[in-house]
Amino acid sequence: MSRVAYVNGRYLPHRAASVHIEDRGYQFADGVYEVIAVADGALVDGEWHLQRLRRSLDELAMRMPMSPSAMAVVLRETARRNRVDNGIVYMQVTRGVARRDHPFPPAAVRPALVVTARRGPARPPAVLDEGIRVLSLPDIRWQRCDIKSVSLLPNVLVKQAAREGGAYEAWQVDDGGYVTEGSSTNAWIIDQDGTLITRPVENAILNGITRRHLIELARAAGIAVAERPFTLDEAKAAREAFITSTTSYVLPVVQIDDSVLGNGRPGSGSLRLRAMYLDFMAGAAAATA
Ligand code: PDD
Repeated sequence: MSRVAYVNGRYLPHRAASVHIEDRGYQFADGVYEVIAVADGALVDGEWHLQRLRRSLDELAMRMPMSPSAMAVVLRETARRNRVDNGIVYMQVTRGVARRDHPFPPAAVRPALVVTARRGPARPPAVLDEGIRVLSLPDIRWQRCDIKSVSLLPNVLVKQAAREGGAYEAWQVDDGGYVTEGSSTNAWIIDQDGTLITRPVENAILNGITRRHLIELARAAGIAVAERPFTLDEAKAAREAFITSTTSYVLPVVQIDDSVLGNGRPGSGSLRLRAMYLDFMAGAAAATA
């Protein structure tokens, strides 16, 4: 089946979809993005994603290219045209096309909006059955990781280093020895008392939508959640660990560097949280059907 992309008001065949070489996203990484899960045709937490998009744009003094409700229509339509019932939609807003010059271009330059959709997530089943390994690496990113910017080169580099080291994800560690987050996921541990621990939302991490939702689900189920920084050493001594993201949902971590957690198998706490999150996704789809 041929794929379709939305580019600045038009639905185009994927191979013909392109943006100008002087798009500021291409030249300066001057843009932001969102990845939204699609479950049974529904956008999962679509409103929260669009709120976060607006926040990212505000922080960069950029305009929303259209109203959130119009944007939701484009997202759903892109999913529909690609026959994506279960997968993701990707959206990217850049500051638009202008002669290369560092300051913002005149206000008349319109932001560019690109949306694509993909079935998935395409993950080897072994990753889920066996749990994942993570590799710790220094966090070399900037001080505004709360903005979901397309400027992802440090994230790409640590992910690549992790993969070359035989790990699925990289956990980035700040100068104080505290874990910030994964290259494209939030990081969590479960301590010996069963409390979930994840870094609080501030500039050092992205305010993950999956993270946010899981905190709500866990608290509603009576599970204690502490939003506080944790060190790499603490993580290695934890009972369990896991990652969250739109594309991973909840994935158990069984090894951090050379430290194997528990018996080296996905822990019951992480698996329970994963099941809770998948239930919520199924319910979210049913609620909007
Ligand atoms: N990544 N931290 C970072 C640095 C991320 O890039 C992401 C998402 C997350 C998790 O956020 P959420 O739960 O809202 O997906 C945390 C997306 C999926 C990506 O870049 O593909």
